[in-house]
Amino acid sequence: MNFYKIARPLLFSLNAERAHHLTLSGLRLAQKLGITSFLRPKSKKNPVKVMGLNFPNRVGLAAGLDKSGNCIAGFGSIGFGFVEVGTITPHAQDGNPKPRLFRVREHEAIINRMGFNNPGIERALNNIQKSRKGFDGILGINIGKNKNTPNERALDDYLHCFRKAHNYADYIAVNISSPNTSGLRELQTPKFARELLAPLMNEKERLNEDTGKNVPVAVKIDPDMDNDQIKGLSDLFSELQIDAVIATNTTVSRKNISDHQLSDETGGLSGSPLNAKSNEVIAELHAELKSEIPIIGVGGINSKKDAEEKLSAGAALIQVYTGLIYQGPSLIRQLISIEE
Ligand SMILES: Cc1cc2nc3c(=O)[nH]c(=O)nc-3n(C[C@H](O)[C@H](O)[C@H](O)COP(=O)(O)O)c2cc1C
Repeated sequence: MNFYKIARPLLFSLNAERAHHLTLSGLRLAQKLGITSFLRPKSKKNPVKVMGLNFPNRVGLAAGLDKSGNCIAGFGSIGFGFVEVGTITPHAQDGNPKPRLFRVREHEAIINRMGFNNPGIERALNNIQKSRKGFDGILGINIGKNKNTPNERALDDYLHCFRKAHNYADYIAVNISSPNTSGLRELQTPKFARELLAPLMNEKERLNEDTGKNVPVAVKIDPDMDNDQIKGLSDLFSELQIDAVIATNTTVSRKNISDHQLSDETGGLSGSPLNAKSNEVIAELHAELKSEIPIIGVGGINSKKDAEEKLSAGAALIQVYTGLIYQGPSLIRQLISIEE
């Protein structure tokens, strides 16, 4: 039975942010009561080793759905092999004024300008410790900077979160590509990227050595760069031996939904209209990085075919957000059965 066929019209009748909170609470409750166990795929596991970590399968939850880290085992229970929580900043912040989340239903897409609403790293880590109980997959913690921190001091925010998260994360994702924190994407320019990532990688080495725990670092990039910019960043990633690249975040382009009444809403566009662009970026990165640095492919996966295209473009792992909102948990069941 595909219960999401019944749940979706109800959820879609609510405003998008309310539906989001209801879904998370429902999933948490269902997992605690053991109801999600019947959703858990019966198929055999498809384990894969990436960044030195053993993933039970290639399919992960993309950042932004479990921003506060309080539904990890819930998402694990519907089949995700890895869950990336966050983006989390040093201090709690409310994010942008509502409304800030829009369903672009005709295109199976979402526009969001949430703006890193999150409880801050201390509270998020408390949530994470509770909500990961029973989760046997890989946990990524995605970190960012507070809205009021200027880019010149962004490193302090990332280092603060990095040090706090190191003990709890299997990998740490460095988000420098959200379009909803003013100026954040400037951190992808060569000067800022080097000034941020070189000290972070040094800190990683130091902490890994001190603790004996290897926590790889993945950097998340946007889909709106041209090939020269991608090449410049790829060179830097290789030089600094970044452990993985997550491609991509949401797009600010409205090219594929220009006819839609919501196309003027500010924010990042995700879902089907992002799929082809994200694949192009992954292919370009793959050509630059060869197989030296693994790519986590994300953007518009809505079917098994979409996921296979991401893997053919060069992704070693994949992540999903918007597809889950439109298709429900059955999408995850389909995706984890993919064999390479
Ligand atoms: C409502 C919403 C909030 C998001 N928040 C974050 C975030 O906090 N940090 C981040 O790195 N990506 C965030 N993303 C981007 C997703 O992780 C993903 O990169 C993007 O949505 C493309 O994947 P999709 O087409 O499967 O949704 C968010 C996406 C959506 C739709």
